[in-house]
Amino acid sequence: MKEGIISKEYVIPANDFAVAGEASSNVKKILIQLGVEPQAIKKTAVSMYEAEMNVVIHAGGGRAFVEIDEEKILIKIKDDGPGIPDIDLAMQEGYSTASDEIREKGFGAGMGLPNIKKYSDIFNITSQIGKGTLLEITVFFKVKEFIKI
Ligand SMILES: Nc1ncnc2c1ncn2[C@@H]1O[C@H](COP(=O)(O)OP(=O)(O)O)[C@@H](O)[C@H]1O
Ligand SMILES: [Mg+2]
Repeated sequence: MKEGIISKEYVIPANDFAVAGEASSNVKKILIQLGVEPQAIKKTAVSMYEAEMNVVIHAGGGRAFVEIDEEKILIKIKDDGPGIPDIDLAMQEGYSTASDEIREKGFGAGMGLPNIKKYSDIFNITSQIGKGTLLEITVFFKVKEFIKI
């Protein structure tokens, strides 16, 4: 492994709102420790949280793979859920298939995917019906001094 690269893998649970969001909050802590600029931390935290919650709510759980080097963070969020039939539609602001039960918990505003696109520097989404979905999110950043942790 190249020196200076941090790799992390997280299991994202299905429908467990007690631990949902743990992966993104852990990554946020790492970026703070590394001395990454606050704006990039915010962009990463928002994007990864939304992607993580989508896997919890819509996909029956999955995994997150994270790689951090001196200039960027790459996050891959993968699930083996139902897939997204129409990605263009899913990307629209306000579009959501969340149930009433999920909406009562405060989710399902349909702003997750649009916000991931807005806050990430590179965003890729691929999905296959019945097989699952893969999101790739990259955020570039500057660090005053890359602190080795
Ligand atoms: N990982 C996923 N697996 C299956 N469907 C998904 C996934 N992520 C998003 N979707 C679909 O795209 C829609 C829009 O997602 P999003 O913008 O995050 O809004 P919300 O999560 O509030 O419904 C969801 O309602 C769901 O139908
Ligand atoms: Mg969402």
